[in-house]
Amino acid sequence: MLELTVNLDERSYPIFIGKSVLQDKGRLIHHIGDSRPVIISNETVAPLYLQGLLDSLSDLNPLSFIIPDGEQYKSLTWFEKISAFLLENNCGRDTCLIALGGGVIGDLTGFVAACYQRGVPFIQIPTTLLSQVDSSVGGKTAVNHPLGKNMIGAFYQPQAVFIDTLSLHTLPEREFAAGMAEVIKYGLIYDTELFSYLEKNIKELQSLSEDALQHIIFRCCEIKALIVAQDEKEHGLRALLNLGHTFAHAIEAQMGYGVWLHGEAVATGMVLASELAHRRNDLSRTQVQRITQLIADYSLPTTIPSNMTSEHFLMHMRKDKKNKKGTIRFILPTQFGRCELVDDVSDEQVRELIAQ
Ligand code: NAD
Ligand code: GLY
Repeated sequence: MLELTVNLDERSYPIFIGKSVLQDKGRLIHHIGDSRPVIISNETVAPLYLQGLLDSLSDLNPLSFIIPDGEQYKSLTWFEKISAFLLENNCGRDTCLIALGGGVIGDLTGFVAACYQRGVPFIQIPTTLLSQVDSSVGGKTAVNHPLGKNMIGAFYQPQAVFIDTLSLHTLPEREFAAGMAEVIKYGLIYDTELFSYLEKNIKELQSLSEDALQHIIFRCCEIKALIVAQDEKEHGLRALLNLGHTFAHAIEAQMGYGVWLHGEAVATGMVLASELAHRRNDLSRTQVQRITQLIADYSLPTTIPSNMTSEHFLMHMRKDKKNKKGTIRFILPTQFGRCELVDDVSDEQVRELIAQ
């Protein structure tokens, strides 16, 4: 088992990564402490992993609450339903919420934890690749609003993150590929060695080799922990984690949430960001081709939806959370393995990029 720490002074916490991490009952109980565990999961993940967890925690008299599966349930309605369940069961401040599922469950549970009785501890047990390398680490919690994704939320850190690589064996291939987009992102923003590793280990990763999985998950969590420790509330550096996301959010919003998975949209967004960087003389044509090839090798899309125009992109990108004073801001690779936030891309440059 691998272990690392997210260093945030008194809010520091460990991340455990490995095969059968969830069977380490003693470690789980240690991090729950004196609290009563309440597990939040969904209708897909619960039949696979809930009973094992309930058995491990049986001495602590655990409760569980299951929500339907889907991004649309990351909502104020389900925030309210979970809160009502906790109140009906007389859950006090000595409650520890446990998020068992992908990023939807993690973000929703974390936001309830941040607000319930002004804050109770919570533990992340991410079960998708995307949530293991990204959403379970760093304390961004949120629900969606009909007018925008993740628009209501809080920065609230978990007590611990338990990443069991075995859970990836039940994950649909398309969801695994979507998680790989975020893994590729870390290579592009921070770590050329990780990028080369991904190029050399496509078969190993797609066949879920344990060593390869642990290697990439550990490295991604390590990079994210380094960034979050320096810029927890995204005043600067943390924004780099949004490489490809300005374009991606436009694709997701235009196509309708769930039509393209977030990671798929990020994959195409990274190709667009790399192409834009090339046009600004930052990346060579060969480097753009290398990035595009790696994304395609992991069965991810590299071209925009055929029915999307530059005006669709601009309309959605004008609402991006990173914008300042009406200017659209992009994260672009300035060299291989390094990115920067830029705010001098004109609408005309976006139109030319999308047109081609
Ligand atoms: P998800 O939570 O919807 O999970 C994807 C699908 O996989 C779901 O159908 C789920 O039920 C299923 N699933 C989960 N684990 C499984 C397993 N082990 N076996 C079989 N099926 C399994 O999606 P996601 O990609 O994990 O997360 C997306 C969400 O994360 C979005 O809401 C996004 O906004 C959020 N997000 C948050 C952050 C953050 O920093 N907080 C970062 C990135 C994304
Ligand atoms: N997923 C981006 C972040 O956590 O900042």
